[in-house]
Amino acid sequence: MLQGKRILLIIGGGIAAFKALDLMRRLRERGASVTPVLTKASEEFVTPLSVSALAAQKVYRDLFDLTDEAEMGHIELSRAADLVVVAPATADLMAKMVHGHANDLASTLLMATDKRVLIAPSMNVRMWEHPATQRNLKTLTGDGVLCVGPNEGDMACGEYGFGRMAEPLEIVAAIDAAFVDGPLAGKHILVTSGPTHEPIDPVRYIANRSSGAQGSAIARALLTLGAQVTFVTGPADVAPPVGVKVVKVQTAREMLSAVETALPADGAVFAAAVADWRVATEATSKMKKDGSGSLPSLTFAENPDILATVSQMAKGRPELVVGFAAETDDVIANATAKRARKGCDWIVANDVSPETGIMGGSENDVTVITANDAQNWPRMTKDQVAQKLAQAISDALA
Ligand code: C5P
Repeated sequence: MLQGKRILLIIGGGIAAFKALDLMRRLRERGASVTPVLTKASEEFVTPLSVSALAAQKVYRDLFDLTDEAEMGHIELSRAADLVVVAPATADLMAKMVHGHANDLASTLLMATDKRVLIAPSMNVRMWEHPATQRNLKTLTGDGVLCVGPNEGDMACGEYGFGRMAEPLEIVAAIDAAFVDGPLAGKHILVTSGPTHEPIDPVRYIANRSSGAQGSAIARALLTLGAQVTFVTGPADVAPPVGVKVVKVQTAREMLSAVETALPADGAVFAAAVADWRVATEATSKMKKDGSGSLPSLTFAENPDILATVSQMAKGRPELVVGFAAETDDVIANATAKRARKGCDWIVANDVSPETGIMGGSENDVTVITANDAQNWPRMTKDQVAQKLAQAISDALA
């Protein structure tokens, strides 16, 4: 899919710059050409020689390099590409993009380009979580900038958390997705998936049997139709699809906050099996048997209803909001009432009685309830349900 594509790769000044070398190799293996641009800071991490050797192209470094201006001006350089990729995208580069700085070659190219831009952020976890960076990310994604990663893990600075740049193959997948010119191109769709974990104490929690399989399949199907997908997931068994923006959460309250941060979106699919209740009496240290035989009692509090909250937003509601209804009795009647109560546009209802084998299984038997009708889809795989649903979403948002 990348055969013949021209990628302008801006390498920011972070420790993950070394991964940009492998990224160039992977892109070239797939038939893409890579024009590399180094920032001053990135030259502390990788050398112009290694970059140009791996790109098999001249490396661009300076805005005022007259030879380059004679050969190819910065405007032309920024437009000769099919896609601009910033990897690693440092906190500083992201801030510059937000404010429209144009004081070196990289920032000027980012201002001058008329092509899509994909960033692969990489920074210390505190820098990533800083409100300024999160604000900047929101502005950039609102401006249509695509984002892959960062991932969670050990960091070169010795800390742990989100901030590791996405791996080269994940960036390649996001680049692939950026070239998909499907019917949902330019649309941002939010998908929630998986169960939530509601803590009882630091080591115990209440959960449910959702595997996240249906949510992951929906996200993948939307991606295939060209959507930009934000995937907010609880602790699921099934891995998120490559190419979506993943936000991992544990509890319903964290899920609501991640959903609110991810908005605005054109569409939202709430496939997560969110716990209706959390433990109001959550203990801060592990609850212990005291030998007396007395049993602990848990008191519950109601969790926020994410689907209802988003469906009933006075401002900024996604154009299409799709909920799920996992029921064990009177599936259609309950789901129809649920659609009205929550205020969503569609409800995808399914029977999760144990004998159906749906929860945790690979197949699903759904009825899609809209304002006008209830359509039963024959039993099919969760991937097929996802593709059919993604197509219906695409038709509705067209
Ligand atoms: O009320 P019930 O849990 O059956 O509704 C299911 C639908 O509502 C699903 O789409 C689920 O993702 C969503 N939901 C939610 N927040 C909750 C409970 C459910 O978004 N607290």
